[in-house]
Amino acid sequence: MSSKISVSEVGRYVGQEITLKGWLYNKRSSGKLHFLQLRDGSGIIQCVVFKGEVSPELFDLADKLTQESSIIVTGTIREDKRSPLGFEMGVKDLQVVQMAKDYPISPKEHGPEFLMHNRHLWLRSLKQNAILKIRDEIIFAIREYFHNHGFVLADSPILTPAACEGTSTLFETDYFGEKAFLTQSGQLYGEASAMALGKTYCFGPTFRAEKSKTRRHLTEFWMVEPEVAYNDLDDNMDLAEDFIKYIVAQVLKNRAAELKILERDTTKLQATVDKKFPRIDYTDAIEILHKKGNNTPWGGDIGGDEETLLGEDYDTPIMIHRYPTAIKAFYMKQDPQNPKVVLAVDVIGPEGAGEIIGGSQREDDYDTLVRRMKESGLDPAGYDWYLDLRKYGSVPHSGFGMGIERMVRWVCGLQHVRETIPFPRMMDKIRP
Ligand code: 4AD
Ligand code: MG
Repeated sequence: MSSKISVSEVGRYVGQEITLKGWLYNKRSSGKLHFLQLRDGSGIIQCVVFKGEVSPELFDLADKLTQESSIIVTGTIREDKRSPLGFEMGVKDLQVVQMAKDYPISPKEHGPEFLMHNRHLWLRSLKQNAILKIRDEIIFAIREYFHNHGFVLADSPILTPAACEGTSTLFETDYFGEKAFLTQSGQLYGEASAMALGKTYCFGPTFRAEKSKTRRHLTEFWMVEPEVAYNDLDDNMDLAEDFIKYIVAQVLKNRAAELKILERDTTKLQATVDKKFPRIDYTDAIEILHKKGNNTPWGGDIGGDEETLLGEDYDTPIMIHRYPTAIKAFYMKQDPQNPKVVLAVDVIGPEGAGEIIGGSQREDDYDTLVRRMKESGLDPAGYDWYLDLRKYGSVPHSGFGMGIERMVRWVCGLQHVRETIPFPRMMDKIRP
């Protein structure tokens, strides 16, 4: 390991001379002083160059520094109660690794179009840095939660021969003369893994050729999908609720500084940790919508507007269950009490976050599953291995998928999902 010191660690070196390596984030000068804001990814520190303490050449060099030039600074760390970091550096030496020329993103406001075009550079800004750290925290919490609860990671393939979530959003590719698709969801393979391991999850990129330009759709997004043998719908809802509470609690505990950078009001995140999530039957949800003046008929889809109306009365996510069979996927189990509905659940985030999780109890009967496939226009022959799971020790089982970017969008309080992933892929966006 190199003995490189990060800005986030400078508190341990008060009174000592150290070297920091990073980039010039911003600069302010006043007569005998240059205030260099040095960023290194872990944080930002003010480095003060005082004319009386350095050579005239060094003072002049500091004056010429341009935004995002790569620099190495050496100096003494001292406490500075006024700065967000709590420390600053009194500079003794400064080296320029490379002088940047005309960095396009200045500290002034830029439009989203311009920033997205420069996404590879935009990532360096304070706010984007905070979002990516929260994303990292969420993903770490997810893996930690499953690992600590006896789940085994078993990842599903990305190149697949058949659809999971309907045939309209498939990305097709040629696989040595055979048709293949980028996976829409790892679930079907996750079910096979659950029959082998009991409690399992897969976590990877998933793809949807979504022709929708909304603030929550990506064409490439990350989904985490637990699948549990012998879990019914209620167990599945219990798992989803406990899982979300854990993730949010970890972010509140470990990423308070980043939430503050994003000016996030954390009231509803705290409520999510503390309060039970309401569970609302789809049929009741439709009635609630009618009372609120929204006329979605029974059997209709609950879209963005409806989700916002249903969620507005609560400060936690809500769970809507038992959706009409006709609007949900072939693999969902019909409710034995009422086959018009399936044992599905969607978790809708508060504050207009929309659907964060979609899941269900799975159809575990061979004949019913074959019938449901045919009704959905799928050829059972393409799913022979999946049907085997209903022939050899079929059991009730359930699972769900959480879209990471949807979760990050809500936790960070962002308008658009495009800021939640380093390099978003959308209908009109494949660069950078
Ligand atoms: O509701 P979905 O389509 O469910 C499934 O794919 C199931 N096979 C999951 C399972 O049961 N194992 O997608 C699950 C979640 C959604 O709730 C949403 O958070 C996210 O994935 N999602 C998207 N996120 C960004 N862009 C898109 N185009 C998304 N489509 C779904
Ligand atoms: Mg869904």
